[in-house]
Amino acid sequence: MIVVRSIPELDLPRHGVVGLVPTMGALHAGHNALFRAARGACDVLVASVFVNPVQFSDDADLHAYPRDLERDAAVAAAEGVDVVFAPSTAEMYPQGFATWVVPEGAAAGLEEAHRPGHFRGVATVCLKLFNVVRPQIAWFGRKDAQQVAVVKQLVRDLNVGVEIRVVDTVRDSDGLALSSRNERLSPEERTRARAIARALATRDEQEARAVLASAGVEPEYVAVADLDGPTLAIAARVGTVRLIDSVRLIDNVPLSEGDTA
Ligand code: PAF
Repeated sequence: MIVVRSIPELDLPRHGVVGLVPTMGALHAGHNALFRAARGACDVLVASVFVNPVQFSDDADLHAYPRDLERDAAVAAAEGVDVVFAPSTAEMYPQGFATWVVPEGAAAGLEEAHRPGHFRGVATVCLKLFNVVRPQIAWFGRKDAQQVAVVKQLVRDLNVGVEIRVVDTVRDSDGLALSSRNERLSPEERTRARAIARALATRDEQEARAVLASAGVEPEYVAVADLDGPTLAIAARVGTVRLIDSVRLIDNVPLSEGDTA
């Protein structure tokens, strides 16, 4: 496996299927599920590791985001990734950068209402990654349901020649969706955070609110929206950590102990 730091160095063989798993690093078992889904479906597997500053609306969150390229490269290598593309911010947004993708439609409300400009950052970096890596297929996690809907909309609306595949959320045994932010939860916060999966397991907006309230978790939103299918989506701050999670109401997946879907 090789680690490539600049765009000109990214000279990939073009004779087979190139697959891309875009990440911001801090790789965990949720990313491993994406790599495993991708590994069998492409000839050259690229993982991008780039903490995209323009999708953060909170400087503290950007600075607290864990960064350890050496560890990420080892995790990616163990999962059969061929190339880790880890550009610098200056490589992706050089002096004079002034062109943005500003998605509407699926990007409206939910995350965007609480993190204005978030999907402008996500859509712009995804289009840049698609243009630079030129994958035929790219994999995204279902947990970030609105992101999935926005990326699918971007690809459709701008005729980007990449197929988007979505992999189910990976959860700890207590139901908490894996996220690089989980490591910032104290033991007490982690116990409270489990209420998010229990709330989703109700598959009902009002009941979900009640579950969160009884656990003392104040949501930023609890909403049913059409995000690549009808989806119950939740964002909540537990302590200082902002967590998001979702369940597609058409999927039959258990979310927490006792949930038989
Ligand atoms: O889901 C993420 O990790 C990021 O939003 C992505 C897709 C890598 C874009 O920076």
